[in-house]
Amino acid sequence: MKTVTTLDELWAERANLAGPVGLVPTMGFLHEGHLSLVRQAREECASVVVSIFVNPTQFGPSEDLATYPRDTDRDLALLQAAGTDLVWTPTVEVMYPPGFQTYVEVEGVSAGLEGERRPGHFRGVATVVAKLLAAIQPQRAYFGQKDAQQTVVIRQMSRDLSFPVDVVICPTVREPDGLAMSSRNAYLHGDERAAATVLYQALTAARAAFETGSRDAETLRQIMAATIDAEPLARRQYVSCADPLTLHELEGPVDSALLSMAVFVGRTRLIDNLMLDNA
Ligand code: PAJ
Repeated sequence: MKTVTTLDELWAERANLAGPVGLVPTMGFLHEGHLSLVRQAREECASVVVSIFVNPTQFGPSEDLATYPRDTDRDLALLQAAGTDLVWTPTVEVMYPPGFQTYVEVEGVSAGLEGERRPGHFRGVATVVAKLLAAIQPQRAYFGQKDAQQTVVIRQMSRDLSFPVDVVICPTVREPDGLAMSSRNAYLHGDERAAATVLYQALTAARAAFETGSRDAETLRQIMAATIDAEPLARRQYVSCADPLTLHELEGPVDSALLSMAVFVGRTRLIDNLMLDNA
């Protein structure tokens, strides 16, 4: 496994990789969710590239950029064990050199849900992912369903800008009690860790209602909201029952839907989602 920082180093190593090349973009502090993407890429591609970059342009001014957890040595050991060929760890200066002034804005699907509560977030995500795809030129790029809106934004960008890449979405990896794995789970202290299971409880309560015939979108939102509101350490930011393709909020009876939410547990903001499909 090679580790590179500059673009010249990256391109020199990239030229030696057999195709198809699979890319797994990450912000590091890796867990089983990230590693599941690496393993799937390992199975499907001749070469696996992982990027580790805590991307400043996707953090808002009051968000956790400065405190975002980092442990590059541990990450590199995990990536080596998972069979990675090349790791790119660019610095902020490599990604955003002085004078940088080009950003990618995906309009419609970035507007609601996370985009509404985190203005500029998906502009930063789309810009950095476009740069990663341009620099590495993978045939496939792997993303987690955990960040559902991100997958929709990246698919849209890739289609709109004609990137010659297959965007592959992998299932959400959860702790045994249902909590979706996230680097931000490291922020949960004491009782907050147990309270954080309320997100998955809310999603599965709504799914159970859906499966027993309760198909009304507002009813499903209310079930999720009531479950979260019953947990004293949790504060609901939003719950959503949306069209999986447009991400527009649904009304009335639904056949397929993306259930999603953002919830503060203590000071930690967590997101989770579940896809409902009647098919
Ligand atoms: P990060 O949060 O590090 O996540 C990297 C990738 O791992 C994303 O595609 C994310 O959806 C996936 N992932 C995270 N937790 C997961 C879980 N529990 N199960 C399955 N997949 C999971 O998402 C980002 O970084 C950034 O926005 C990035 C795309 C790298 C752009 O900066």
